[in-house]
Amino acid sequence: MDRSGIFAGEDPFALARAWLAEAEKTEPNDPNAIALATVDPEGLPNVRMVLLKEIEADAFVFYTNYGSTKGQEIDSSGKAAFVMHWKTLRRQIRVRGLVSREEGAQADEYFASRSLKSRLGAWASQQSQPLSSREALMAEAAKVAVTKGPNPPRPPHWGGFRIRPVEIEFWADGAFRLHDRFRWSRVSVGENWLVQRLNP
Ligand SMILES: Cc1cc2nc3c(=O)[nH]c(=O)nc-3n(C[C@H](O)[C@H](O)[C@H](O)COP(=O)(O)O)c2cc1C
Repeated sequence: MDRSGIFAGEDPFALARAWLAEAEKTEPNDPNAIALATVDPEGLPNVRMVLLKEIEADAFVFYTNYGSTKGQEIDSSGKAAFVMHWKTLRRQIRVRGLVSREEGAQADEYFASRSLKSRLGAWASQQSQPLSSREALMAEAAKVAVTKGPNPPRPPHWGGFRIRPVEIEFWADGAFRLHDRFRWSRVSVGENWLVQRLNP
């Protein structure tokens, strides 16, 4: 297959890491931002931005509140998709896959690396639940600062989700709208990848 240059290599996770490293040099903000799609029990899609924190050997990891809308939708469907788009590079990566929680040592370690304010915020915010006022949130943050102290543990309702892809597609802008697209797909997680060039 005529796959070379920015698309070279067999490992889609290595390719995603390489593209993100390029975007880190050019994007003004949040090069690791992904638009994360989930579905509710009726199949109605939902999408919002989150920050991609790890690209592992076979998975993508982000962190959130398990009680949030996305947390509940993922826990019930076990599936998600995301897209990353870099305006500066004119490229996107699309991912679809199966999701499981990361709520062990890795989540503890990442939580511990966050600023104290962020750690307390994770305790204070009942993400996606109605909130009477900003003052109520501030009061809750002040309260947990006292009750949790200077070294708060990871809340049980907060942690990672690990997306194990069955599809990863790389797209790059080409001349005359003849963009390049390559899709890695596999029947299920753990199987071999099939790589195909797609029509733009
Ligand atoms: C650039 C950006 C990055 C964000 N990163 C995260 C994140 O890593 N985790 C998170 O829970 N919410 C993040 N948010 C907030 C989410 O978009 C969303 O408002 C929140 O998670 C609630 O979504 P839900 O009600 O669908 O669960 C981010 C928002 C933006 C704009």
